[in-house]
Amino acid sequence: MENNAADTPTDGRILVVGAGAMGSQIAMACALAGYRVRLHDIAEESLEKARANLTGVMERRVAKGRLSQAESDAAFARLESTTDLDGAAVDADVVIEAAVEKLEVKQDLFARLDTLCPSHTILASNSSSFVPSAIGARTERPDRVCNLHFFNPALVMKCVEVVRSPDTSDATMDAAVALVERLGKEAVVLNKEINGFVANRILGALRDEAVALLEGGYASVSDIDKACRTALGHPMGPFELQDMTGLDIGHAVKQGRYAESGDPADQPQRSLAERVEAGHLGRKTGQGWYRYDSEGNKLGE
Ligand code: 3HC
Repeated sequence: MENNAADTPTDGRILVVGAGAMGSQIAMACALAGYRVRLHDIAEESLEKARANLTGVMERRVAKGRLSQAESDAAFARLESTTDLDGAAVDADVVIEAAVEKLEVKQDLFARLDTLCPSHTILASNSSSFVPSAIGARTERPDRVCNLHFFNPALVMKCVEVVRSPDTSDATMDAAVALVERLGKEAVVLNKEINGFVANRILGALRDEAVALLEGGYASVSDIDKACRTALGHPMGPFELQDMTGLDIGHAVKQGRYAESGDPADQPQRSLAERVEAGHLGRKTGQGWYRYDSEGNKLGE
C-alpha cells in the first residue's frame, strides 16, 4: 500500500485553489495523507469534472490493489469541494494555489487570501512560472509565502519543489518541507528564487532543443520523442510530455521567462505559438504535437 493514512487523520486543514488537473490531484494527495482538504474553484463545473476525474483515478488504484476501498472512501470524505472561497479560507492552515498561470490573477488571489485567512496560514503557490516574491507582493505576510511546485500527474510524481523568496521565514520552509514529506513525496529546496526553478529549467532546455531540431527539419516529433525514450531512458519524450501537461502551460512559462529576461531566445517558438493560437493544447483538446481520438489514443502527428 502507498502512503495512505485513512486511519490516521492529520492535523491541519488545507485549501487548494483551482480544480484543474494539478489542483485536483494535489488536493487528493493531501486527503490521502490524512489532511482535511477543501478544493475551491470559481466554476461548479470544474469541481464536478475534478471529482469525476479523481473518481476514475481512485477506482483504478483500488482495482490494482494500490489502495483499499475504505482508504479511498476516507480520502474522499476528507475532500470537500466548494465555490465559496471566503468560507473555505477562514480556517485554512495552508493554502496551495493552483489557479491559472497569470501573475495578476495570482497576485489578486494572494492579496485576497491574505485578508481572509488566519494570520498563521501559509500561502503557497504551485506556479512554476512566477517566483514567490512576485506572487506574494501584495500580501502583508511575505514571510509565510512560498512556492510548492508539484509535477504532473501530481498523485504519481514524487518531487515537489519548495521555493523561498528573500522574505520567506525558516519556519515557513520547515513547515512546507514537512508537509511535502507527509504527502510521501521528496522536497527539492530552492534557497534562492529563480523563474522555472530546477526541474522545469532543465526540462525547458530539453524542449527548446527538441523544438529547434523539429523546426530545422532534422527529425519528426515522434522520432525526437523516440530518441528521448530509447536513448536517454525518459518515460516520455518532450512532445508527448507537453501534450500531457498542456502546450498552453509551456507557452505561458516561456512568455513569463521572456517578460523577465527580455531575451528573444526565451520567446515561445513559432511552432508552439501556432499550436496554442489554434487551440491545440495537447491531450485535453484532442490535439497538440500529436492528434488523439476521443478515448485519448494517439493517432499520429
Ligand atoms: N493521473 C493519475 N495517475 C496516473 C496518471 C494520471 N494522469 N497517468 C498515469 N497514472 C498512474 C497510473 O495509474 C499508474 O499507476 P500504478 O503505478 O498505481 O499502476 C502509474 O501512474 C504508471 O502509469 P502507466 O503504467 O499507465 O504508464 P507509465 O508507466 O507510462 O507512467 C507516467 C505514466 C507516470 C505519467 C510516466 O509516463 C511519467 O513519469 N512520465 C513523465 C511525467 C513527467 O515528466 N512529469 C513532469 C512534467 S513537468 C511538470 O509537471 C511541471 C509543471 O510545471 C507543468
